[in-house]
Amino acid sequence: MTGEPVFTRSRELQLEANDLLPGGTNSGARAAITQGIYEGLSISTPSFFERAKGSRLYDVDKNEYIDYHLGFGPIILGHSNPAVNNAVRQQIEKGTVFGGNSEVELKLCRKFVKHVMSQGLTVLCSTGSEATSIARRLAMAYNKKKKILKFEGHYHGWADWNMVANVHSVIGSFAKNSGQRVVAADGVPQSVVDDVIILPWNDPAALEETIRREGEDISAVITEVYQANWGVIPPEKGYLELMRKLTKENGIALIFDEVITGFRMGLGGAQKEFGITPDITTLAKCVANGFTIGTVLARKDIMEPVISDRTYIAGTYNGNPLSVAAALATITELESSDYSKLYERGNAIMKGIRDSMSDNHVPGLVQGPGPLWSVFFTDLEKISFTRQVFSISMHPHIKRSAIFFQGLINRGVMAMPTRYGRMYLSFAHSDEDVKKTIEVSDEALKEAKGAVAE
Ligand SMILES: Cc1ncc(COP(=O)(O)O)c(C=O)c1O
Repeated sequence: MTGEPVFTRSRELQLEANDLLPGGTNSGARAAITQGIYEGLSISTPSFFERAKGSRLYDVDKNEYIDYHLGFGPIILGHSNPAVNNAVRQQIEKGTVFGGNSEVELKLCRKFVKHVMSQGLTVLCSTGSEATSIARRLAMAYNKKKKILKFEGHYHGWADWNMVANVHSVIGSFAKNSGQRVVAADGVPQSVVDDVIILPWNDPAALEETIRREGEDISAVITEVYQANWGVIPPEKGYLELMRKLTKENGIALIFDEVITGFRMGLGGAQKEFGITPDITTLAKCVANGFTIGTVLARKDIMEPVISDRTYIAGTYNGNPLSVAAALATITELESSDYSKLYERGNAIMKGIRDSMSDNHVPGLVQGPGPLWSVFFTDLEKISFTRQVFSISMHPHIKRSAIFFQGLINRGVMAMPTRYGRMYLSFAHSDEDVKKTIEVSDEALKEAKGAVAE
């Protein structure tokens, strides 16, 4: 890409989209790039894309990007992976939906038993939002309690119970409400809000005190294992262990939402990394490299209400052979992929951006495990809490963040411009991509520094 990219066709199509789709997009999460607004600052981004292959994404104006957005995370093997595409093509010829079981479902479920949850039964659905809502129902049917405890900044999908102090509702709300429950969306019944408990994550005292006080009513605790929404944030040492212990002691189902981390941080997800087994696991994104699938794994006793017909889970597209064929091919490819390479390349990019921040005296932080990370513009030395991420927008150098991400896009590197600056890596990214990304980041960072007075 030479000079500033032009987004003429994107703009034309976006005007049409604004007339046809509510807010000009089918997913509110895409608002930053479809409306070109970042923390109230104007940005210039493509909003329509034509194709993607390997590590590359192409917009409708023929601009090419090394892609670190990766469709909000599902692309782990690289875009349009040949093995996955072939598996789907072969399945299309055999049929797309049968309304009964197909043998590929069993093959896929065996993979989950092998890699993620050896004691688990599997329910396949179509999205992460469905998976977490199924998990919640399973927990309630199992222990017959009604409340769910979730954490600030953790996003588990768009269901009613999730719209309470989640990714959207916390925007601008913490200062005013100081952590009280707030609802993101009109249309969520108060009765649903009443049954959701919200806590800051990485706060063991708050967790212990709340479970001691309300444990008898809490059906499930749901958590990301390595926070990936609203900033990539690791669990503090001992925190997940405490969560496991308290939930076990109080008859509460522990749900690990690994929709982002599953098959991204390794074949066994983040839970294998931390050596903790939850009662229920949810997976989606990386399972099928961009084809739609959601997965719920749970112990047999937790699935018992389904087996004995005390509760009900169904879906026309659950376990549909197309998604399952894609998932089976994705996991098979991942089994022979070298995850250490993914970590190595991710760490190289993180180090490159960190070095550049340090050389250019730009206060900032780059943190994450390797296959995903966040670039924060902040004076803090470490980010452990979502509220710290929220404070970034009040930092005068938030403008640097906007200019940095704009600078990446202008130079052919795609990342979603947000204050939590999340970037994903795939196995298709090469050492050349890494080198170019580090160079481009340095240029974008210099531009960002120069544009803001000290
Ligand atoms: C951790 C987590 N859980 C659940 C979801 C919802 O998944 P989906 O968008 O497939 O419904 C997301 C989506 O980003 C997520 O990040």
